[in-house]
Order: sequence, then structure tokens, then C-alpha cells
Amino acid sequence: MSSPPTRMAVVGAGLMGSEIAQVAAAAGCEVVLADVSQKLVDRGLARVREIGDRRVARGRWTAEQAEEVATRVQGTTDLDEAGASGCSVAIEAVTERMEVKRAIFRGLDEVLDEEAMLASNTSGLSITELGRATARPAQVVGLHFFNPASVMRLVEVVRGEDTAEATVERAAMLAETLGKTPVRVRECPGFLVNRILVRALCAAYRAAQASGAPRAVVDVAVVAGGPAPMGPFELGDLIGLDTLEHIRRDLAAAYGDRFDDAGVVGAHVSAGRLGRKSGAGFRAGVDAGETEAGDDGAAAEQFYAAAADEARRCLQEGVVASADDANVAMRLGCGWEHGPLGAEAAAER
Ligand code: CAA
Repeated sequence: MSSPPTRMAVVGAGLMGSEIAQVAAAAGCEVVLADVSQKLVDRGLARVREIGDRRVARGRWTAEQAEEVATRVQGTTDLDEAGASGCSVAIEAVTERMEVKRAIFRGLDEVLDEEAMLASNTSGLSITELGRATARPAQVVGLHFFNPASVMRLVEVVRGEDTAEATVERAAMLAETLGKTPVRVRECPGFLVNRILVRALCAAYRAAQASGAPRAVVDVAVVAGGPAPMGPFELGDLIGLDTLEHIRRDLAAAYGDRFDDAGVVGAHVSAGRLGRKSGAGFRAGVDAGETEAGDDGAAAEQFYAAAADEARRCLQEGVVASADDANVAMRLGCGWEHGPLGAEAAAER
């Protein structure tokens, strides 16, 4: 297998950016991690160290290994000054606002070498539009990691309208050298995994709202009733309810009522309850760890039925090439024991 690039830029030192930087550094790459303020950069560097410390505590890494990985990540507020011109790849992982990302892509286009590939970790914004902010749209691609990015093995490689086939292959190879499994997807709102996952989450939130079942009960029922490792409320807290609401709204605007969640997520965001990162959310900070007795089979059934329906639509629309790919994506991106299209995948073989 080929080796990872020697030097890479990651723009955005938030949760996703710092975890992506950690993944690249752990694969042996020198990483320049950039953000707009030193405080944000320092927080990102601390996150890289935290992941290493956790691995040392679990006996997975030696303290020396963790130190070596951490020192491979250099923080900066000025990418140009930090030596971006030596980077063959940049991965952008900033807030999901098109105008912010477009400005970053324009800047990257100016400071990176001509052959460099520009990738976005966007969870649903148009790669085509980002590419057209640069003079190298054929070298712009989506590389969508999953939370926690240091753990989840999937990377969606997203092809925009102008992305060259060679760039898709280069991005897929990069994902592999970072120890991830690439699944190639065609650009559409939400791409593949978020379409399937958020559709399922909305179905469960609607069902829970209708039945009045406690959240812990719904979470237990979903985990017991199918392949997902986490219930819909606990997972919402992990993703971040502001992020989730952002994605859900875009999906509702694109696909309509099947992404209606009965206002459940938005109500929490308005109240400032954003999930784990804010210490309070659906379950975080309320009843975390609680496992109430009871059963909400209806929510679980609707969760998995919605996931299977959305996966089928993605397959029919050519967003993903095969049922196998859709299944792999849900296994490695969301930790499902098996994918939502088990029967279809078997029939294809
Ligand atoms: N951050 C970083 N690392 C974490 C973590 C976190 N929040 N939680 C657990 N880990 C690490 C642990 O350190 C451990 O690492 P090592 O193997 O290196 O030791 C590993 O994950 C397994 O941890 P545990 O055994 O303690 O935990 P687990 O077996 O319960 O797994 C989980 C935890 C990996 C998060 C698992 O519950 C899971 O797969 N959940 C589903 C997550 C999911 O669906 N993610 C996708 C969200 S959607 C998205 O990200 C897309 C988007 O655009 C919004």
C-alpha cells in the first residue's frame, strides 16, 4: 500500500478538524492544523494529546508513541507562514457555512502548490460550489469523516460535478493510507450516510414524541432492536444538536417531510442544550447512563424502516454504486453490526 502524504494541512481545529489531524499524524504525516485564533488552535492541539493519552491509558500506545504523534501536529493561525506550500493535501473542517468555506477554499487555492488536492469534510454542502471558488475544481473533492473521526473507519469520498476521476481515486487512496475505508458517493444533499442516519433519527424522534416514551427507553429499544450501537437520543448528543439541526434542516429543504422531526431537535438548540459538548442535551447532563426499564418497539421499528427506505432511495438515485457499499458505509461510519440493506446486498451477489 502507498504511504500517506508527507505533509498535510487541516483547516479548522474544532472537534472534527483536530481528530482528522490526529488520524493523519498517527499515520505518519506532518500536519499543519490551522484556525483563526490561537485559543482555537490550542484547543485542537489539546484534543490531539487527549486522544493519545486515552490510548496510553488503555495500553494501546506507549507514552513515547503518543508524544511522537502529538509533535507531528503543528498549530498555526497563518497557514501561509506555517509552510502550506509544502502540503500536497488540505482538508477543510470548519463551520458548515458556504460563504466561510468558499473563502477558505479561495485562500487555499492561492497558497497551496498547483498539484495539491483540496478536500472538504462538509457533511452535505456542495463540493461543486466549493470547487468553483478555486481555479482547480477538478482537484476539489469531499472527504467526509464520521464522529469520532479518530475511531470511525469510514470516509465518504464525494465527487462533485467537476471532480476529476483521478482526484476521486487519489482521495480514496489517501483515506486508505490514513487507515480508513473509502466509499465513493455522488454529491447530493446529505450524501449517503447522513441521509440514512438523519432520516432514521427523525423517525425515532417523531415516534417518541407521539408515544411519550422516555428517551432512555427509546435508546435501549433501538440498540436492542437492530444493528445500531447507540440509541437515537444518545447519538444526537454525540453529534451535537446544533450540527444535527443544521443537517436536518438542509435535508428537509431538499427532500421534504420525511426529515421532519416534530421540532424535537430545534427546541433543544433554542434552549442552548447542544449535547455532550455543552454538557446538556437530550440525555447528556440529564440522565446520562440511565437505563430505564420499558419498551418502545415502535420507535425502533420506525428507526430501522426509515433507514432501509432511505438507503434504497440512495441506491435507486445512483448516490451509491451498490447495496454492499451502502451497508459498508453504515457499518464503518455509524458502527452498525450490519447495514440496512442486508437482503438486497445478498440478492445482488
Ligand atoms: N471521542 C473519541 N474517541 C472515543 C469517543 C469519543 N467521544 N468515545 C469512545 N472513543 C474511543 C475509545 O477511546 C476507544 O478507542 P481505542 O479503541 O483506540 O481504545 C474506542 O473509541 C472504543 O471505545 P469504547 O470501547 O469505550 O466505546 P464503545 O465500544 O462504546 O464505542 C463508539 C464508542 C465508537 C462511539 C460507538 O458507540 C459507536 O460506534 N457509536 C456510533 C457513532 C456514530 O454513529 N457516529 C456517526 C455520527 S454521524 C456523523 O459523524 C456524520 C456527520 O456529519 C454528523
